[in-house]
Parts: sequence; structure tokens; C-alpha cells
Amino acid sequence: MSESMQGLHRTCRCAELTVNDIGKTVTVMGWVAKYRNKGGLIFIDLRDRSGIIQLVYEEKDCGSENFEKASSMRNEFVVAAVGEVRERSAINDNIPTGHIEIRVKDTRILSEALTPPFAIERDTKTKEEIRLKYRYLDLRRPDMQERIMMKAKIMKLMRDFMANEGFIEIETPMLCNSTPEGARDYLVPSRVHPGHFYALPQSPQILKQLLMLSGFDRYFQIARCFRDEDLRADRQPEFTQADMELSFVDVDDVIDVNERLIKYVCKESIGLDVEIPFKRMKWIDAMNDYGSDKPDTRFDMKLVDVSDVVKDCGFGVFTSALANKNSSVRGLNVKGQADMPRKKIDALVEMAKGSGAKGLAYLAVKEDGTYKSSFAKFMTEDELKALVTAMHGEKGDLLLFAADKNLIVWKVLGALRLQLGEELGLIDHSKFNFLWVVEFPLLSWSDDENRWVAEHHPFTMPFEEDFKHVDEDPGSVRAKAYDIVLNGFELGGGSIRIHQDDIQEKMFEVIGFTKEEAEQKFGFLLNAFKYGVPPHAGLAYGLDRFAMLLTGADNIREVIAFPKVKDATDLMLGSPNEVDPKQLEELHISIDKTEEQ
Ligand code: AMO
Ligand code: AMP
Repeated sequence: MSESMQGLHRTCRCAELTVNDIGKTVTVMGWVAKYRNKGGLIFIDLRDRSGIIQLVYEEKDCGSENFEKASSMRNEFVVAAVGEVRERSAINDNIPTGHIEIRVKDTRILSEALTPPFAIERDTKTKEEIRLKYRYLDLRRPDMQERIMMKAKIMKLMRDFMANEGFIEIETPMLCNSTPEGARDYLVPSRVHPGHFYALPQSPQILKQLLMLSGFDRYFQIARCFRDEDLRADRQPEFTQADMELSFVDVDDVIDVNERLIKYVCKESIGLDVEIPFKRMKWIDAMNDYGSDKPDTRFDMKLVDVSDVVKDCGFGVFTSALANKNSSVRGLNVKGQADMPRKKIDALVEMAKGSGAKGLAYLAVKEDGTYKSSFAKFMTEDELKALVTAMHGEKGDLLLFAADKNLIVWKVLGALRLQLGEELGLIDHSKFNFLWVVEFPLLSWSDDENRWVAEHHPFTMPFEEDFKHVDEDPGSVRAKAYDIVLNGFELGGGSIRIHQDDIQEKMFEVIGFTKEEAEQKFGFLLNAFKYGVPPHAGLAYGLDRFAMLLTGADNIREVIAFPKVKDATDLMLGSPNEVDPKQLEELHISIDKTEEQ
């Protein structure tokens, strides 16, 4: 039986009550989190988003009708209770309201509830598929509520800060065109224009640049973005950016306002003091030292380039790799792990292969000074000594080596470093290591497309002194791009934009666009840029990632109310879904059934 709440008015949330309220008559409403019937006394833990308050029903206070209602209450019933706040005799120090309770005088059952498929409790062990299928119940769990509310707080703090700094919040459309962020687009068919499609934005990139051209000077938006790409722990097909663009600025201006933003948000959200300015690391140093453009600097174990040491050695795997351009032999010194069992080393080799390596060579320096190694037999004693010295190897160390193209060696050892850092407990999880990665390459070679592609997007400003040599050596040109990195995650990224049309035209030419193609894809932008464009720059944060890291979650699904799973489905809504044939007809779409099977 459900009752109406007519005539009742909630006076506060459950856990807003304190010892200062003792003696007051209050009305609370919420969900039954716990029910205990001790004969003449019924205790109910009532939960709402603020937390829990204990209700006590005793027949002499509330009368038989209310007492009977209370005895029929079960977990997750929605209940209203009117009563007096009293001091509690059995104090519970585990909850903030543990010193008080409400002696109920009047009560109503506002809604009954089925037994939920899993307990509504913190730190559930319930499988994620079940949690997501019943997301509305999962969101009732206190840790989910805390994370979602923390994300809201972070958004509010960002908005406040940005508004104070003179940024204007401007919305940009969801139904727009393909943007050049590099992932696949989500397309929306047009009913009115047969065969034509909108693309959902991968980011507001081009539009925010146009807003600078329009003279808004500083733009900010909490923007929804859509990218059809493989999902990972830190990637969703639709996600949120805290997006900004500024006029008449250079790199230092963007970095300055963002460091102050981060400092403010960290302090006001989770009370974290971060020191600014952050360290700036060149992309090439990040790759050489950490094998990653988003280095986790909470622990050392840096990569070491031993190419020079092994270039003439007897191990063919090393020397033949070095015969290729842009290739190297690099190693990791895993301190004190010389005794790592063979099985574990084999697992590391397999992991390396999974990241694209042809193999992983190892050398363990045993306590007696001898070696256990997959390649020692190919090298002289002197060669081995030189290698161990270059690696700062000591007795008891395990040295791992990869030989290949630089990009592969970095990727392989970078991934191994993270894996070993985690496994060996080298990471201090209390640290928040913010850093900027700067001086990215402007272009990277795409084997798939057999052309140079923009590493960031094609509106990124090159270093002028490098761009002169773009025709001879495109790979050496640095971009005025910067990423903000936190604990091994790319929190955000941005760049100075090209505002001169000659540089922009050259850029399109280098990435293989003909004038016609550039015109067709970005004609409106190129045209707009003929009408007076200020030098401008910007940056966008992955807001979900920011919230994930500040709440200590290990997956961005934990900070998104209704996320999608790996295959981009929503387990609760059941989307994507088939639609009515009539809708398809209106959209001029027919489904190829042979494709479907
Ligand atoms: P970029 O593509 O680097 O830059 O994106 C900015 C930030 O958005 C986050 N992010 C994601 N978060 C969750 N799921 C995803 N699929 C996903 N993809 C990206 C990352 C990333 O750092 N327009 C430019 C920004 C600019 O130049 O101003 C842009 O979108 O945290
Ligand atoms: P092989 O001669 O192929 O049996 O390799 C000898 C050792 O070198 C094995 O431990 C391989 O895992 C390792 N190895 C093979 N290719 C590479 C490579 N490109 N980089 C590092 N080690 C490799």
C-alpha cells in the first residue's frame, strides 16, 4: 500500500540533523536502508542522499497504527517519518548522525519496493553488468552518490573559476559536421535532406575557434563529445569536455590560467593542495624516459637507451634492429627482481608481444655476479659488463630490453614499466603528479594511410623555426601543443592555433589535402579566417577523467551516471536499438540484412 505525502512537508535531509537539533520535531523522507524489529521497538535506518538517520518506533509514542506500518516496512521502501530528535543511548560512531535518532510519532509508507537484485551498500562486489542493468539502483549506493555529487561540484567550481576569469559560456550544436579529432563520427541521418547526415561533434574545436573570430575573446563550455572508438577504462563513446579557447595569448598564458584552475578545483573539491607551476616535460624527454606521452611520474624506473653500447655487440637481434632508421635498443632496470621466476618473465615477454614487440630480452644479475639471460651467450663478457654498467645494474637486478623502431620500443617498455610499477608496489597512490607535456611532434607518419597526419589536429601551430624544414623532414617539426597529465592519464590537451592562412594552407598540403579537399571539408573555416582572426589558443579537459582521478575511481564509468560498456551498448536502456521501419523509411534508410548476419 502506498500513501500520499499530502499534508507532510520534509523539514531536512536525514543526515543534516545534528545534536543541535535534539528536542526539535522534524519530518524526514527517504529509503529504508536497514530494518530491525526488537519486539516492542522497531529500528529503521532511513537513507537519502545526505546519509542515514535512525528512526525508532515504539507503540507508546506512535500508536498502534503507525507501529503496524513500521513493522511492515522493508528495505528500499520509501518512508516519511515525523518525530522528535533525541539523544541516542547506544552511540554509533561509524555514522555522522550516530549520536541522535528520531522518535517517530507519525509515519507513512510512500512507496513499497521489491527486494533489489543487490544490496544497496558501499563498495559493492556485485558484477558490473548487473549494476549497469539496474543503474538506477546502483546510483542509490552511497559511494556512487558521492562520486556523482563530486563531479557536479567539480563542474560548478570550474564554471565559477572560468566566469571569474572572464570566460563566457557559449553552447555549440550537437547536430553539426565532422570535426578533425581523428576518431570515427557518430552520424545522424537527415529526414529533410535524403542521403545527408549530421555528425555529432567529436569536440567543439572548430566552432570555438570561430567564436574567437567573432570576438568573444574567452569561451568556456562543458561540452558533450562523441567519438566512435574502442573503449577503455578511461574512454567512453560520449564523454564530457571542459572546453576553453582564448584570444591574444601564447602558451604561457594558457598554462597559467589552467594551473590556477586546477589548483582551485583540487583545493575546493577534495581539499588537495597542489603546487604550481607544474613541471613541463618535452615530448621527446617523456618518451625517452617513460616510454609514454602521458608519463606516470609517481615512480622512477626510467627507460635507458643502450643503442650506442650494443651497436657492435654479438647479439643479432640488437644489431639488426639498429640497422633500421629511427630504431633503438632500450632497457628497464627492474631493481631487486633478478630472482623473478621464469614463468613471470615469460608473462612479461608475452605482454611485450601484445604491445607489438617481436620479443623481450632479459638479463638477471645474480647475487654471485653471474648472469641468467636469454641472450648472454651471444655477447662477450666485456659487452655484457658494458651493458650492465649502462643500465646502472647491480647484483640482484633484472634488466629487460626491447629492440625495434623507437615508437615500438617506447610503447613496449612504457607499458611494462607501468605494469611492473603497479605489481611491485612502486606507485605512491597518495600522490597527484600533474605535469605538462609540451613540444609534441606536429605530424606523425601513418602507415595505414601512407601519408603524414596531424598528430593533434590540423589547426595546431607549428614552431616557426621548425616549419621552415617541413618539406625535408616533416617528422622533426614540433607543435605548439600541450597536454596536461595526471598520474599517467591524459587529463586534457590543447594548442596554439594557426591563424595565418599561408601556414594553414601549407599544413593542409603537408597532410595531403588538395586545395579542393581542404575547401570541401573546412571551406567555411578557411573563408571565415579571411575576415580578421585573432591569434588564439585553447585546451579541453576530459571532465570524466578529472572526476575519476579526483574521486580515486579506477574507471570513468564510476563517475558517469549512465555509461556505456565496452561494445558501446547501454545495458539499462538497451541502446542501440532497432527502430520502427516507418522511421527508417522517413530517413530514406534501408538496412542490408545480409550485412547484419
Ligand atoms: P583531445 O582530443 O585531446 O583534444 O581531447 C581532450 C580531452 O578529452 C578527453 N577525452 C576523452 N575522455 C573520455 N572518453 C573519450 N573517448 C575521450 N577522448 C578524449 C581526454 C583528452 O585529453 N579540441 C581538442 C582540444 C583543444 O585543442 O582545445 C580536443 O578535443 O582527457
Ligand atoms: P630469438 O633469437 O628470436 O630466439 O631471440 C632471443 C631472445 O631475444 C629472446 O629472449 C627473445 O624474446 C628476444 N628478442 C627477440 N626479438 C627481440 C626484440 N626485437 N627486442 C628485444 N628482444 C628480442
